[in-house]
Amino acid sequence: MCGIIGINSSKPVSSTIINSLKKLEYRGYDSAGIATLSKGEINEIKSEGRVDNLEKNSLVQSMEGTIGIGHVRWATHGLPNSINAHPHSSQNVSVVHNGIIENSTLLKKFLVGKGHKFKSQTDTEVIVHLITENLKTENVVNSVKKTLKALHGSFALGIIFKDEPNLIVGARRGSPLAVGYGPNENYLGSDSYALKSMTNKITYLNDGEFCIVKKDHVEFFDEEGTKVNKKVLELSSEENKYDKGDYKHFMAKEIEEQPTTLKNGINEYIDKTNNDINIYNLPWKKDEISSVTLIGCGTAYHSCLMAKYWFEHLTSLDVNVDIASEFRYRKNRFKKETLYVFVSQSGETADTYAALDLCNKNRMKTCSVVNVIESSIARDSKFVLPIHCGTEIGVASTKAFLGQILILYILALKLGLLRDDISKNLFVKKLKDLTKLPDLVKKTLMTDNKIQSISSTFNDAKGSMFLGRGFSFPIALEGALKLKELSYIHAEGYPAGEMKHGPLALIEEGMPVVVLAPRDDYYKKTISNMQEVIARGAKVLLITNKSKDEIFSENIWETIEVETTNEDLLPFLLTIPLQKLAYYSALKKGYDIDKPRNLAKSVTVE
Ligand code: G6P
Repeated sequence: MCGIIGINSSKPVSSTIINSLKKLEYRGYDSAGIATLSKGEINEIKSEGRVDNLEKNSLVQSMEGTIGIGHVRWATHGLPNSINAHPHSSQNVSVVHNGIIENSTLLKKFLVGKGHKFKSQTDTEVIVHLITENLKTENVVNSVKKTLKALHGSFALGIIFKDEPNLIVGARRGSPLAVGYGPNENYLGSDSYALKSMTNKITYLNDGEFCIVKKDHVEFFDEEGTKVNKKVLELSSEENKYDKGDYKHFMAKEIEEQPTTLKNGINEYIDKTNNDINIYNLPWKKDEISSVTLIGCGTAYHSCLMAKYWFEHLTSLDVNVDIASEFRYRKNRFKKETLYVFVSQSGETADTYAALDLCNKNRMKTCSVVNVIESSIARDSKFVLPIHCGTEIGVASTKAFLGQILILYILALKLGLLRDDISKNLFVKKLKDLTKLPDLVKKTLMTDNKIQSISSTFNDAKGSMFLGRGFSFPIALEGALKLKELSYIHAEGYPAGEMKHGPLALIEEGMPVVVLAPRDDYYKKTISNMQEVIARGAKVLLITNKSKDEIFSENIWETIEVETTNEDLLPFLLTIPLQKLAYYSALKKGYDIDKPRNLAKSVTVE
């Protein structure tokens, strides 16, 4: 994680760097900093907290220099304070870094032995001193090359040199890095978001490559320092997507946008003329796939879990789900008939990317479900299914979650049909129901007032639980994650039937418990589990769907009814009140909803 920007121009760069850093804040917001070269010196200004704090510093306003680097940090080594903020500089070199240097302790020992003095607790500072040391005997290119070879771990780097006022060096291993091309200026950025307001012409560095960014041209090199030619890609630009409109928070806007984003996804994938799903270009034949493994992190992992239920319901494929950080180090038995599906909103999550890379290296069939189509995961998977949600800014994922599960549901339906696991009639019926989903989500979004008042009880409690069975279980996990992320309240998602094997001991008088019990095949069982927690004093918020059948249970604290649809699609509707519950709890507590503490939107470190 963390965000990098570098600009080499003929105009002063500090205010453009600050503006780009604001766009990169979704990658980290513990601290921010900027360094420019002017009058033969490196000037460095850093501050704790948000980019706003940095911008308020009067020295930044008057900062000179037509070449500079900037950084937003998500702390890995050392506290999130201004000393540990990037850039880190010696007299000769200034560096911004994303990633983790795993052998920093050893390198530091070596450098201290050579007389280098360290100011921060970060791993990054070893890079500064190592380059400085190597510059004693080498030119810029060779000093960088030698330094990169000595580093273990992952990095994206932006480097400026006191004695080379015409260039910025960028380097990549593991963490993504892009170069952008402008009129009489060129840029370095940890992703295309930061560069999009300045250019739509981008080149991505591959692992192991480094580059020299000059005002008028950019040179690329492989690990050995041999020059390489790279393609320039043209990106689509949609600037209005950063606008919050009349909403107080991006998250509120993104929750309300869901009917539209679902509609977009459905329009992209449903072939109404042929009553089909227009995934016609799968690069594998149906007989070449006998199992599916779904991999992701955080909310994307919950999407994978959700998809497991659908794949099992609609196809005869074997289905496995894995957390990317576990998968990448497990002794996997790779099977060539398995389709490996990588789910990631950003398409840049380091663990998910590493899992994909591992599968690619083992020549597996790889497919990704992503929101950012220019991302590393999209670029490196053999087949891409975009979710068409538009930019998601709120750190806690909402519309991207519904977008991911929509596309995974569509994929399960398509494979079910291709393999003759479901009949064409049933398939067409399910497609019809799916086209009605955006309107049902819209209606469900109207249950606002009730959730606002309910949220206070969650805020006053020491903890809460979210229970569900079958299709509702992954949604219970996602609901609990949303509350944790935004309100910092302990919340656990659990399969309702598993409570009696331990977690029931946590239930005490007045504890709020959310029970997801839509009228599906699991309904009666879940209601029994609900009675077990009510009997032990829990305050139950029951979330079910509208029905003419009465609910036979006493002492339910509150009930929310979502709209009604077929059981496959109920998870979409159950998600809505849970997103709102988390939103209103955090709103009442006055927390930073779009940027919760300690988190980041795109996690590019493992
Ligand atoms: C971070 C975000 C989560 C997200 C997870 C995976 O932790 O805060 O909201 O679910 O990364 O991100 P991805 O971009 O791979 O979906």
